[in-house]
Amino acid sequence: MQAMSDDYSDRNPELGRLYPDHIKTLCERHDHALENSGAAHAVIFSGCPKTVFLDDQQYPFKPNAHFLSWVPLVNLPLSCIVHTPGETPQLIYYLPHDYWHSVPGQPGGYWTGLFDIKVVHSPDDVAANLPEDREKCILIGEIDDESHAFGIERVNPTSAINILHYARGVKTQYEIACLRLASRRGARGHNAAEAAFREGRSEFDIHRAYCKAVSHADNELPYSNIVALNSHGAVLHYTNLEREPPDTLRSFLIDAGAQVHGYASDITRSYSWSDSRFSELIERMHSAQGDIVSRIRAGVNYSELHIETHRILAAVLVDAGIVSGDPDTLLSTGVTSAFFPHGLGHLLGIQVHDVGGFMENEAGTIIDPPSGHPFLRLTRDLEENMVLTVEPGIYAIDMLLDNLRGTAAENHVNWQGVEWLRPFGGIRIEDNVRVTADGCENLTRDAFTAVA
Ligand code: GLY
Ligand code: MN
Ligand code: MN
Repeated sequence: MQAMSDDYSDRNPELGRLYPDHIKTLCERHDHALENSGAAHAVIFSGCPKTVFLDDQQYPFKPNAHFLSWVPLVNLPLSCIVHTPGETPQLIYYLPHDYWHSVPGQPGGYWTGLFDIKVVHSPDDVAANLPEDREKCILIGEIDDESHAFGIERVNPTSAINILHYARGVKTQYEIACLRLASRRGARGHNAAEAAFREGRSEFDIHRAYCKAVSHADNELPYSNIVALNSHGAVLHYTNLEREPPDTLRSFLIDAGAQVHGYASDITRSYSWSDSRFSELIERMHSAQGDIVSRIRAGVNYSELHIETHRILAAVLVDAGIVSGDPDTLLSTGVTSAFFPHGLGHLLGIQVHDVGGFMENEAGTIIDPPSGHPFLRLTRDLEENMVLTVEPGIYAIDMLLDNLRGTAAENHVNWQGVEWLRPFGGIRIEDNVRVTADGCENLTRDAFTAVA
């Protein structure tokens, strides 16, 4: 397939075509949240830059995800959206007069026609443009300086937040288009990272090859890249980036994403340097992951799928000669949890671990993860157009495996098999999928095919 160029800009015509419906949906969701809160206006604050203690430097700005859901402006501090039912949403766009730092450009792109935009140059002018009757406002955003509440007393009321978070679990067509682009951007980075691994480069250099291919500075990545050679793959969130390659290369695990207009991908791949037994185990994990993905459809209970994944991984570990026993015994004795200690996946969107994964309803009732599986972040039944990750993994984590000694699990572990796996760290295969009525769209596999 011919390499395709992707338009990640705010001139992308497809995004421009889908955006008005997205805004319509957001208006409806906010109408509902306001009604439930007995308020007339929602003020959505983009956020305030944070300054380092005893310093004049600022941490990289991370916008309020609620603000980002309205406008693709990832770097616009101290600005507000104002939503009033029945009116065109307002954007109070803060453009400081500042010659020390670069400032945002004038508003431009496919999104501008949907807002009544007021460009202001001081925080006082932001306040002056908000609805006068602050009693009738709710504010949605992080307020760590009283002045940024602009005199609004009702900040992040659960009567509104729960409705908005529950709704965000299901993506609009515009959001899905952004997520598809984010997957493609990430797939390009993964291909560059694999090539750098094949050249024998260090974790740091592989990371740099990835960032160049996705055209992200470190701060723009949706999360810190996990670039793990050899046994580092067993550290679930390994982010050290060793500057030199190891003397002996065995394996490579990379968990890295990219973003488009604030929407993230979250992709993991594992590779063997040359060991054929480890290559076969990776292939076996790809087919196990494919089996799990094939079970995704609207109506599926994700907690049950997480438990079923333990049975599927039990069979993989048995076939690899690392454990012995039937899947249910390996699950109940905690053997599979020692090798697969994290959740099967999570909702994905503006936040990599997107909100709403535990919510049974818009009132905010929480569905706990299954007992013994505290790290599962998605317990809600799957619905059409949810986007989520499917990321089974197996690792040699001594801290967890040592806990099996002296228990009923000990004799189910082939400790020589563990010795064999340890220098390779582990394997994780993570795709991003969109739920459909009778299956799913695999954004990640489609992306790798598209950029091949
Ligand atoms: N990259 C973090 C995760 O997979 O959840
Ligand atoms: Mn990941
Ligand atoms: Mn993930």
